[in-house]
Formats: sequence, C-alpha cells, structure tokens
Amino acid sequence: MTGPTENTTQSKQYPVPDAFARTAHVGSRAAYDKLCADAQNDYEGYWASLARQFVSWHKPFTKSLDESNAPFFKWFEDGELNASYNCLDRNIDAGLGDKTAIIFEADDGQVTHYSYKALLARVSKLANALKAQGVKKGDRVVLYLPMSVEGVVAMQACARIGATHSVVFGGFSAQSLRDRIEDAGAVLVITADEQLRGGKALPLKAIVDEALTLGGCDSVRQVIVWQRTGGNVPMVAGRDVYLDEVMAAQSDVCPPEWVSAEHPLFLLYTSGSTGKPKGVQHSTGGYLLHAAVTTKWTFDLKPDDVFWCTADIGWVTGHTYVAYGPLAVGGTQVVFEGVPTYPDAARFWRMIQAHKVSIFYTAPTAIRALIKAAESNEAVHPRNFDLSSLRLLGTVGEPINPAAWEWYHREIGGGRCPIVDTFWQTETGGHMITPLPGAHALTPGSCTLPFPGIDAAVVDETGKEVPWGQGGVLVVRKPWPSMIRNIWGDSERFKKSYYPADFNGKYYLAGDGAIRDEHTGYFTITGRIDDVLNVSGHRMGTMEIESALVSHPLVAEAAVVGRPDDLTGEAICAFVVLKRPRPTGEEAKQLANELRNHVGHEIGPIAKPKDIRFGDNLPKTRSGKIMRRLLRVVAKGETVTQDTSTLENPAILDQLAQSN
Ligand code: WT7
Repeated sequence: MTGPTENTTQSKQYPVPDAFARTAHVGSRAAYDKLCADAQNDYEGYWASLARQFVSWHKPFTKSLDESNAPFFKWFEDGELNASYNCLDRNIDAGLGDKTAIIFEADDGQVTHYSYKALLARVSKLANALKAQGVKKGDRVVLYLPMSVEGVVAMQACARIGATHSVVFGGFSAQSLRDRIEDAGAVLVITADEQLRGGKALPLKAIVDEALTLGGCDSVRQVIVWQRTGGNVPMVAGRDVYLDEVMAAQSDVCPPEWVSAEHPLFLLYTSGSTGKPKGVQHSTGGYLLHAAVTTKWTFDLKPDDVFWCTADIGWVTGHTYVAYGPLAVGGTQVVFEGVPTYPDAARFWRMIQAHKVSIFYTAPTAIRALIKAAESNEAVHPRNFDLSSLRLLGTVGEPINPAAWEWYHREIGGGRCPIVDTFWQTETGGHMITPLPGAHALTPGSCTLPFPGIDAAVVDETGKEVPWGQGGVLVVRKPWPSMIRNIWGDSERFKKSYYPADFNGKYYLAGDGAIRDEHTGYFTITGRIDDVLNVSGHRMGTMEIESALVSHPLVAEAAVVGRPDDLTGEAICAFVVLKRPRPTGEEAKQLANELRNHVGHEIGPIAKPKDIRFGDNLPKTRSGKIMRRLLRVVAKGETVTQDTSTLENPAILDQLAQSN
C-alpha cells in the first residue's frame, strides 16, 4: 500500500510504487527527464527515432517534419506504411498469431476470443469485400456501428485498403448522421440492424435509412448491414447488402495498400464553439506512432497485460486506445458491447475479475456513477470482487474531482495502482499531458506533465508563458506527429480554430484553460475557454444545441450554457423564448419535454438539455448581444452580483431565476 504524503502546495502526493517503477517502460523521473531532454535537443530526431522504433515502414521516410506550409504540418511524408499491417500482420510475423487480440464481451455476457490471426482473416475478407464494392484508396466510408469487434474490423479493413473511415457514434440522430455523411462525401456506409445496450435493442439501420432520405447523401452507393440481432430490417434493392454475404464470397488474404504517412487514416467529427461539427482529419504515420508509443509508455503495456478501455469506437478514445493503439503494440484487450449498469452496476468489476484485466481506462463520469451505485447498494460494491489483477488505472475525457480519484485509487486500485489522468482531445490524436506511471508521483486532479516531446505551455493572451501558479490558456508550441491535419474541407476554419492570429498563428490552441502547480509544475486543466460543453466526457457545442432548439416551430430564441453537475461534470441548461406567451406550470413542463425530445431527435440523446427555462426574453446588451456570462450564474442557481447596468432588460434575470 502506498500512502499519500503531505506536500507544501497540494494536499496529497502519491509516490510511484517501487514495484511498479522497477518494471515500467519509463521507470523513473530521471528517465522521463532524459526523454524530454532528447526531444528538446533534437526535436525532429527524437520523433524520427520513435517512428522507426514503433512503426514498421514499407518505405522508410527521409524527412521528419515539414513546416513549409505551416500550420499544415507534415510528418514523415515520403514514408509509406499501412496501419492495418502494423496492427495485425507484423504481430503475426513476430509470432503472436495465436495470441488473443480481443476478448469480446457482449451485452448479454457472452464472451468470444479473437486471436491476431483470426482478426486479420476477418479484416482481410471485409477489405476485399469493400474493394469488390468499388471502394478505392482515399474514398470515405462512414461506420455507424455498435461497440463491437465488427466495428474494429471495419476500421482496420478501411485502413487496409487506404479508405478513410469516419465513425459516427451510434447515439447520434439521423440528422447528425446525414450531416456527417454529406460533409465527408462518403461512398459507403457500414451499419448494423440494431445495437444491444443494457438489454435493449436500438435501431441503427432504420436511422441510416432515414438519414439517407433527408437528402444530400447522393455520394453513398452502398450500405453494408451487419446482422447483430437478426432484427427484421427492410433492405433497399441495389443499395443494401448483408455483411456476412459480402464477406463470405471473399478471400481471407488481402495485401495491404501502402500509403504515404500523411494519407488520411480517418475523419472524426467533433463539436466546436461555432457552426456545425468539424471533421477532424488524422494522418496515418504520425497518428499510429503516437497511438503506439502512448499505449506503451502511458499504459506501460506489457505482453501479459489485459488492457481494457471502456470508450466506444464512436469517440476518439475508442479509435486510439481500442482500434489502433493496443493492436499496434501486440496487446490483449477487452472490447465490451454494453453499459456499466447492466445487468447491474457491478458489471465493470465483474468483468475485471473474469478477464483478469490488468490495465483499466475509463471516464470520470462512469466512476462517479458507480460510486453512487456502490454507496446505495452493497451488492454492487467493488469490494465484493477480486480486482487483484489490476496494476494500473486511467481516466480520460473530463477533469476528475479529487474525491472520485481517491475512491478509484482506494476501492478499485486497492491503493496499489497508479492512476493516469490523461489529458488530450479528438484533435491531438493521443495523450498530451499525462503521468507516466513509473515516473511521476501523482496528485489527484492533476494530469501532471506533458508526454515526452509534447511542448505544452500555459500562456497569457499575448502568448507569453505565465508563471507557475497563475492560470492561463493551454497551448502546444511545437507541432507533433499525431496532431490534427485539417478540418475536412475547411482549411480556413482549421487555421482560425487552432492557430488563431492571437498567438501569431504559431501555437496550437487547445481551447482549455490550465494552471501549473507553483512547486511541481504539474498541470491542472481548468476547463474549456470557448462555448464547448463537456457532458459526461462528451463534447457538445452550445451553438449546435441552440440551432436544434430554434429549429422547433414554437421557439423564437434560445441560449445554452453549462452548469456544474455532480454526476456528469457539466449539465446542459437552455434558456428559451417561445413565439407564444411564456408558459408556466404544467404547460412549461410539457413543452420542456417536447423540446428535449426535439433536441434528441435533431442531434442525439446526449444533447438533451437537463434544464429548460422559459423567459419572455433573454438578458441582452443594448446592442443585442446575449449575456451568457449572466446566464451561467442563473443556471447555477446563484444570485447575479455582477453589474447589470449595460443590460437592456435587467428584470429578465429575476424571471429566469424563478422559472425553474
Ligand atoms: C476535451 C476534449 C480525450 C479524449 C476524449 C475527449 C476535456 C479531456 C481531460 C482530462 C480534464 C479533459 C478537455 C478537452 N478533457 N481529457 N484528463 N482532464 N479535461 O475528447 O471530445 O475531443 O474532448 O475534453 O476539455 O479539450 P474530446
């Protein structure tokens, strides 16, 4: 048991357990410092050397970083590789063919093991099937699939033939799916009849059908349907085919398509502060390098480990730490179809015990929900399960409050497992600021220090680094291999969003605030500095939700803000003005429900506002600007103490405060 020690600035520090450090890939602070110094002394050489070590190249690259068209940076561009070859074939060549790559546990508890050989055979069959359907290198393929081995196989199959995949999370609505299909110009969609979550069958194919009738999706020639449940779904003749049928006809050998390191491996849509979701474009070489090196160093993955990342493949975490990273380093991982609360809130603990999971990576929201469940029902408390296989824990997606961190450390990690609190983003491709578990003493709530080679800094609005202990804006001063390459089809928006003129266009702007500890220099992320909300670790743009609200025929105007929530981190709070008199009582309740469902239908259930408040108007300045700052105060249930003299209609604040 490693106990915490008092430290002058922060309440507690957890030293690296000796036993952990002894065998860790990066086993001391000195080893970490040495890696950072290497990167500092020869930045390109450092990454080039890792790229040779972690990635197998069909044609070696001769140049590391190309900055000639900044901020459109290129890495290892004349090198050629294939991501699927790196994740499958080379492991088999190294003798891991019969090693379990994936332990799949279905929603109903059924378990299936897939060896590297078996996985390669499936990937090759599907890759051949895609080719037979006319999919070519560079074509975009949208995947709208359950959390499944088939999802991983579909991603790998696209990579194998050089098609660019774009996974859309199965919780997004037909409208959201349509927008992404259109923006990506996808030629093919792979989906399933239904997905199983928590004992319920939810439609997927029906939503694809709806999306394709909404218009703008003429680029789609085929829909491949995996029969997950055998649900009876209508098939469109000439367009829809069954996955099993198209695969059965194909050989299980498919030579990989060698692509340039800069070839787009995938697009993944994420929310920004304005406008529609943006298609974050990732490379093949730099992305795969970072997926592999972070899986090995941050998770200290070893040949005997059983790794489990609970993220869905619909999010970037499920890309880097399910579909690519663990396979790229020849690991064994658990893939789980279901939800943490079915059949009860002990599902995770039971699965860790059953599969002897040694490295467990999940989101703070899940931990908080499971704490609550364990506290109210002894039967689902983790103490009833044998979690002794665990040696490392991780969190991602949102800040973890120290109380949840302590519980996770004590009740799940038995006080012996370090916790890696990994800060990163869809755009960064992999971990940016994170403990290396054999090198860094831990402070609950801090993601500690940058991954070696990542030049993260906290700066003021002029781009000058602020002293430790002072809050500021998080930037990355040097380009890194797995960074976003572009916003699909919108280079201007890419520049404006990530390389704004404020910092001379030189620094990558993460969109988060941060502060470094006065003594240790450890980073703590203080939250988004733009109009992006983080609800249960899911990123939502306030403007997207507002647009969805005003698309309802009764809504005249809407403003959306976040407010702190014990369980979900942030909760969505909407202020709405109707085209008819402000509703109260039962009518207000009914309308709020209708609007919630409307947002669910427009974007997806994750975007449904928790609170909806109706007003005669919104607080505006005399020039008509909505004062969101004040709405945030009202949303929290606090009294506005700020000066409201610039408001056109100060009285509206009282009305909104009461209309809950
Ligand atoms: C935003 C990115 C990282 C993959 C999943 C989310 C927040 C992420 C942490 C963390 C505090 C975090 C940031 C970031 N975030 N990880 N460890 N501590 N905040 O990816 O959907 O692109 O969201 O999530 O605000 O900007 P994403």
